[in-house]
This record gives sequence, structure tokens and C-alpha cells, in this order.
Amino acid sequence: MIARLARRFPNLAADVARHFEADQERSLLSQVVYALESQGVWAVAVYRFGRWTYREGPTGAAGVPFKAAYHALHKAVEVATGVVLPASADVGPGLLISHPGTIIVHPQTRIGAHCSVGQDTTIGTTGRGGNGVPSIGQDVFLGSGCRVLGGISIGDGASIGANAVVLRDVPAYHTAVGVPAQVVPRRSIVPPVAGLAPGQPPGRKGT
Ligand SMILES: CC(C)(COP(=O)(O)OP(=O)(O)OC[C@H]1O[C@@H](n2cnc3c(N)ncnc32)[C@H](O)[C@@H]1OP(=O)(O)O)[C@@H](O)C(=O)NCCC(=O)NCCS
Repeated sequence: MIARLARRFPNLAADVARHFEADQERSLLSQVVYALESQGVWAVAVYRFGRWTYREGPTGAAGVPFKAAYHALHKAVEVATGVVLPASADVGPGLLISHPGTIIVHPQTRIGAHCSVGQDTTIGTTGRGGNGVPSIGQDVFLGSGCRVLGGISIGDGASIGANAVVLRDVPAYHTAVGVPAQVVPRRSIVPPVAGLAPGQPPGRKGT
């Protein structure tokens, strides 16, 4: 039954699997409970439901209850968790939101597969007339409190430091820190905290 659900909803299965990866010391039951209790999983599950509703779900009158349910759940998640992750954003499989806290994602954002987003993070426009939206590659690590703003690209495997304000492109497998963020040479690729693993260059264990 679980295997069949995972095959039917592979992106959501990949999201939940990220929580399992985060702490492999736990028993399977403990991992399942941990994932179900995770506010990040609630938010991502509702996002995936919204994507399904609008892209694959029933159309016309038959789709109305699904769309209504999605909007109610989206609002409930927003109020309960502070995560705003609209179904129109394009997020690849394996998104990890491991801690509760406000996360705002612009509706036109693109986020690649296997990314990690820390709490208190904003991904959106610069405001005041700037309407470009970030495009984020795969295996990207967004540290807690960061802001990624404007029509910029964050390359695959990049890491964004805690509290960074990123206003320019970040090349693949580079790290950006500070306000405004600067790209720094990368000395370490060890995950700073279990469950919030920075992206790793290709070929390394765990990629
Ligand atoms: C960005 C990050 C992943 C970099 O890790 P790293 O690749 O190991 O990089 P280093 O620790 O070698 O740091 C490289 C340089 O950037 C600086 N730096 C690192 N993180 C920084 C940050 N968030 N803000 C400002 N400067 C930072 C370091 O001081 C160092 O500068 P120096 O060369 O002048 O000494 C990590 O520092 C970080 O910010 N992680 C976020 C963790 C997080 O969100 N935790 C929340 C858990 S709930």
C-alpha cells in the first residue's frame, strides 16, 4: 500500500524520504512519526496536492471540490506553519523543510530537485518595481534566515549562508554569505546540521 502510494506520488515520496535521510539512526516507526509530525512535510504535502489538483486532477465542476480543499489546506498550512508555498511555484522532488518557521516562496519561483530550505527564508522579488524571481538549481542548500531576491540564478549544489541577502547569481557548487551576499571560497562541504545538508559536488557520497 505504501509502495503503491509512493509510486503514484513520487515527488511527495521523495520529499518525505528526505526526512528519513536526515536521521537514519531512528527506527522506521520513529522516522515515520517524525515525518508525519513535521510541519515541513505538512506544507510540502499540501503543495504537492495543489500541483496535482491544478495539473492532473479532475477538470470542470468535478475539480471544484479539490481546488476548494487545496485552498483551504493551503491557508491552514500558512496560518499553522507560516510556510507560503503556492502550487504555481515549480519545485522539484525531494524538498526538505526540516524546521518550523516562516518560509515565503514567490508563486513563479523555480526550485530544482533535492533542495533544503531553512526556516525564516524568503525567495521572491526585490520589490519596488523589481519583478524578476529567482531560479534555484538542484541540491541547493538555503540556510536559515536567508533572502534570495530578484531574477537571479542559484546554481546546482550552491550553499546560501544563514541570514544572507542574495541579490546576484551564485555559480554552481559555490557558497554565498553576508549582506549583500558575496561568493566565498568553499572550505567545507560537511552538513552544518543533520537534516539541513548543503549541496555537494557531483560524485561525492550522498549526492
Ligand atoms: C554557508 C555555510 C553552509 C558555509 O559553510 P562552509 O562551506 O563550511 O563555509 P565556511 O564555514 O568555511 O565559511 C567560509 C567563509 O564564510 C563565512 N561564513 C560562513 N557562514 C556565514 C554566514 N552565514 N554569514 C556570514 N559569513 C559566513 C565564514 O566566516 C568564512 O569566512 P572566512 O573565510 O573569512 O573565515 C554555513 O556557514 C551556514 O551559514 N550554514 C547555515 C546553517 C543553518 O542554517 N543552520 C540552521 C539550523 S536550524
